[in-house]
Amino acid sequence: MLTAISRYGARVLPITEDLVAGCRARGEFIQGPQIAEFEAAFAGRHGLGPAHAITAAYGRIAFYYMLKALDLPPGSEIIFPSLTFWVVPELARVAGLTVVFADVDPKTFNLDLDSVERLITDKTRAIVPTHLYGLPCDMDRLLAIAGTHNLIVLEDCAHALGATYKGKPVGTFGAGALFSFQTLKPLNCYGGGLALVSDPVVAAKVRAMVDALPWPSEKRITGRLLMGRLQRIFMKPWVFSISLFPVLWVSALIDANPDVFFWEKIRSLHPLPEQYRERFPNVQAAIGIEALKHLDEWTAQVQANAEYVNSALAGIPGIQRPLAPADRTHAYYQYCVIGPDGPQRDDLVVRCVRRGIDIETLHVDVPPDMELFSTATAEADGARRAAQAMQIPVHSGLRRDQIERVASTVRTVLAAAAR
Ligand SMILES: Cc1ncc(COP(=O)(O)O)c(C=O)c1O
Repeated sequence: MLTAISRYGARVLPITEDLVAGCRARGEFIQGPQIAEFEAAFAGRHGLGPAHAITAAYGRIAFYYMLKALDLPPGSEIIFPSLTFWVVPELARVAGLTVVFADVDPKTFNLDLDSVERLITDKTRAIVPTHLYGLPCDMDRLLAIAGTHNLIVLEDCAHALGATYKGKPVGTFGAGALFSFQTLKPLNCYGGGLALVSDPVVAAKVRAMVDALPWPSEKRITGRLLMGRLQRIFMKPWVFSISLFPVLWVSALIDANPDVFFWEKIRSLHPLPEQYRERFPNVQAAIGIEALKHLDEWTAQVQANAEYVNSALAGIPGIQRPLAPADRTHAYYQYCVIGPDGPQRDDLVVRCVRRGIDIETLHVDVPPDMELFSTATAEADGARRAAQAMQIPVHSGLRRDQIERVASTVRTVLAAAAR
């Protein structure tokens, strides 16, 4: 049977079940010493002491607590990119700030810094560069702008753990950074996140807020691990081929978008959902400690896969491959190409899907186009163009024969359309 290749590949440790069983046997499923050990290992990787890394229930809530700890005056403006996960700006709003969206450069999918400069006012206090899809932003220029206007920089590293800018890991440039450990992210702990905070006083405030939260129930954690196991099973090529893939295949033909069912419902997050307000459990930290040991190897594998696809897609007229400037490394959380817009783009996707390659077209959002942010000041033309990208599977779980198939199929489809 010709199997289909899923857009996602969770990074899974073969010893996951043993780690879970070990935590249970030691009575350290929920609380335990591995949380501090994981935080120390994560901070150490970023050249910081253990007090600077604080785990949380989600990356988004780690961000929220950083904002609370910074104690910006209510109504302060905070600049986000117009292409990002809507929850992050929404939480800035819940924290009492006014969100402003600067445009994105469709070549890098990252903040357009000219747009940022245009949108700075005397109320602007912070800026959130999202290293979208794993490519670091131009941090030298961004930090220079922030320095001139006295702005706090909080990096959104949810996609970019493993990426570097001028040899330094992302997350070490601003006052703080958020990381996500959700199943599909570069470091999979089956959920959770972390705030990396450079100022020890702010870090201590974040820790005090997180420490005051309740622990999750055993049932909730078990449910999360089970969900992770199911996702893992559904991503296996043969299971994917006979389960989710047929749904995607039919949807592509009838122009439906089943992706919306995978994503979180767009809504106000005030008051904060209950599951946001709890701590990161020991069993997930135990998984994180082991996963961190494999991170560089996974990053190298996804980079090699991306390089392979890059070579295969070279020279196709009208197709822009992902840019990775020489001063940074790309973590390729997503590998995005931009070609035609609208129905023509959708037609290319259908052709790839029919040949068994699952292409994603909606990964993050253009928040200024959402009802939720309809009154926000925004520039978003570049973001709308960037949102027309096609995301081609290159994840670290793909074997050589699979990445060859991805590359040759996508090349055939794109090159035929370009003729
Ligand atoms: C760009 C971006 N930022 C932040 C987050 C939040 O991460 P978490 O799900 O851990 O809250 C995500 C999650 O998908 C994301 O894509």
